[in-house]
Amino acid sequence: MQLMTNVTSLKGTIEVPGDKSISHRSIMFGALATGKTTITHFLKADDCLNTIKIFRQLGVEIEEKEKEIVVTGVGFQGLKQPSDILDVGNSGTTIRLLMGILAGQNLEVILTGDSSIQKRPMNRVMLPLQEMGVEVSGFEGTQFPPINLKGNKDIQPIHYQLPVASAQVKSALLFAALYAKKESVIIEKELTRDHTEVMIRQFGGQIDVSGKEIKLSGHQQFKGTHVNVPGDISSAAFFIVAGLLVSNSRIVLKNVGLNQTRTGIIDVIKAMGGDISIEDIDEVNESGTVIVTSSDLVGTEISGELIPRLIDEIPILALLATQATGTTVIKDAEELRVKETDRIQAVADELSKLGADVTPTDDGLIVKGPTPLTAGSVTSYGDHRIGMMLQVAALLVNEGEVILDKSEAVSVSYPTFFKDLAKLVSDAK
Ligand code: S3P
Repeated sequence: MQLMTNVTSLKGTIEVPGDKSISHRSIMFGALATGKTTITHFLKADDCLNTIKIFRQLGVEIEEKEKEIVVTGVGFQGLKQPSDILDVGNSGTTIRLLMGILAGQNLEVILTGDSSIQKRPMNRVMLPLQEMGVEVSGFEGTQFPPINLKGNKDIQPIHYQLPVASAQVKSALLFAALYAKKESVIIEKELTRDHTEVMIRQFGGQIDVSGKEIKLSGHQQFKGTHVNVPGDISSAAFFIVAGLLVSNSRIVLKNVGLNQTRTGIIDVIKAMGGDISIEDIDEVNESGTVIVTSSDLVGTEISGELIPRLIDEIPILALLATQATGTTVIKDAEELRVKETDRIQAVADELSKLGADVTPTDDGLIVKGPTPLTAGSVTSYGDHRIGMMLQVAALLVNEGEVILDKSEAVSVSYPTFFKDLAKLVSDAK
């Protein structure tokens, strides 16, 4: 696909689609609750549609109406044996959380996904689940999908210190712990997104969180409820950075999710001297309006406990750093190597092709700026966030074409991305 280049201004207001993490969980909790759950502003993108498809295979009725999704819950023991393999497509959240959900069910399933999923590490979930008494194994003795899983109705509680900072692993174990008779204790390596914990309470359950330590009792009852999904800050991130980098721009992003465990990007932009402000905060829905204007930026360091609060935004922050004065060092981000693609290598390789000065390290990137970006042919490697980052980069290329291979990957999280960008370009004219 030929990307949009040489854009001199972006203006206007958009509302990005619903949060991916919250959309997945709303279907999962709705399925395990009793009664109906209604979901508004659900993300109708490939990943979350795969979650819907799988819960239907597990016998859950899910109606897709124009403005809302209605899930008829079956309760904790109501899922049915599927007749076929469960295929998550590209979705790491679906496969990992599903392992926890199926851990305490009397079912035997095979879980798989696309070529990216088949390379993603699953021991991080399988090993603690095995400790809890679940029979779960990867393909031919490896830790990779297809995964065979046989649930255990008498699952044991767990006391577990997470070896990785991962909300997917934490959430899988929280779901599994809900089937145990006694209390489980899960201790995080770093604080990660807490949407599962928030939703346990929203569905009428109880969870005790004290810093990095989480205590959760099993055999709880969840009641169906209404979930209003805020816009995904990880999707808004592409327009936030575009607004900062493209000259003469002002972008207003409505209803952006601002959960504290997700807003690391805002802190980094402020540290880099970016003009970003937040208005109309809705405390209950954890959302607000984000406004950005073109800015001169300086390099910074992104590391430590900040990393899980912006893990999905690192590709687009690396692009931001290419236009900042000075050096930006990103470290402690080794998890990027096992995302939809190796995002450290992908960011360094593809941005270098466009003339940026980006060096990969074991656990991050070193970016020197500012560098002008130039024409070239790049690839998303089938990774939605790499694809969208490269389109934002292309906006800054003044001469020649930027061709993106595997551009269709953006539909994993943001099917209307190119359309929303085109609106900001045309509203600026
Ligand atoms: C997610 C957690 C993160 C994130 C992913 C969504 C979630 O993954 O990168 O896009 O919904 O829990 P890890 O838990 O592997 O860090």
